[in-house]
Amino acid sequence: MKIERFEMERFQSTWEHTVEFNLADSGVLPLTLAGLVDHTWVQEVLAHEPIGYGMTNGSLELRTEIAGLYHAAGPEHVLVTSGSAEANFLVTWALLQPGDEAVVMLPNYMQIPLLIRGLGAEAKTWWLTEANQWGPDLDDLARLVSPRTKAIFVCNPNNPTGAVLTIEAMNAICEMAAKVNAWVVADEVYRGGERDGHTTPSFWARYARALVTGGMSKVFGLPGLRIGWIVGPHDMIDSLWSYHDYTTISPNLIGDRLALMALTPRTRQRLALRAQSILSENFLLLSRWVDDLEGLVTWTPPQAGAIAFLRYHPKTNSTELATRLRKEHDVLVVPGDHFQMDGFIRVGFGGERRLLEEGLRRTGDLLRSLR
Ligand SMILES: Cc1ncc(COP(=O)(O)O)c(C=O)c1O
Repeated sequence: MKIERFEMERFQSTWEHTVEFNLADSGVLPLTLAGLVDHTWVQEVLAHEPIGYGMTNGSLELRTEIAGLYHAAGPEHVLVTSGSAEANFLVTWALLQPGDEAVVMLPNYMQIPLLIRGLGAEAKTWWLTEANQWGPDLDDLARLVSPRTKAIFVCNPNNPTGAVLTIEAMNAICEMAAKVNAWVVADEVYRGGERDGHTTPSFWARYARALVTGGMSKVFGLPGLRIGWIVGPHDMIDSLWSYHDYTTISPNLIGDRLALMALTPRTRQRLALRAQSILSENFLLLSRWVDDLEGLVTWTPPQAGAIAFLRYHPKTNSTELATRLRKEHDVLVVPGDHFQMDGFIRVGFGGERRLLEEGLRRTGDLLRSLR
């Protein structure tokens, strides 16, 4: 297996801790340990927990809480992984053989399309377009799906656009998959951060061959726990567990315990309110910034998540723009090039308000100077 470099991940890992104004992050401002649990819980519970392997598919308690996020799911439908990145890896690895064909929604977090190619399979690209407000073109999908299609991969809510599929589109995708007995794999890691307050419906239970990935990294503000999951039919989850034995064996035990704490109804509600408040305030700031730029930047506002995909109009390459922003202004944004879409930048607005405000001001100044 020969993999291509995952440019966006490497770009973020290299630079995100070197800049003062990091607008490349895609989640809600990470919590501290003290912000998640009180010190008596740490002293009385966590301090006495043997740091062993734990259940390699995730503790029964954690799998039960995760199952509670999905309609009529039980712990047997859940495999806990090291982040949703591992969840995506396991599913893609298990479903595709060299020579297989899959359809992949783009733009997208590029992990899955690059991995498909690395596995020697073909990734047929299904583009969401700006002209369609980042909505899907179902006729295009119908043209791409064939009897050779093993899986249709979607990202909903979408990274980088924040667009959310309608129920009708979700059902149409499942119907097309059903015709050729393909899997639908939905990366739903951004679920829960919707601006209208309505949680994005899941692909789980919508179709017998649906596999859903998710995790604690984005709206929960807990990326460092490295806890993700796959939800799917029991026999498939069982078989994916065998693949997991070859990667990380088990999720980290401390992460398992803290994720369980975060998902208990009271804490989950607190974290949801926290995310809602950060996202709604910062979204207003971002919208005002776009308006103030008077057409230098245009967008379809995201429906969910902490990221916006912005078209900028000065004629300059997105990697060059991001590099100048980083070197000259100490601001990090993700260039559209990383999504094969020059002319755009992805801006994360889930962070600290003060840093977002100054990062945007500096980005605006550079864009104005290029007009
Ligand atoms: C769509 C999508 N899936 C998966 C991941 C990986 O996230 P995690 O930290 O849960 O592994 C990301 C990270 O940005 C993402 O955007």
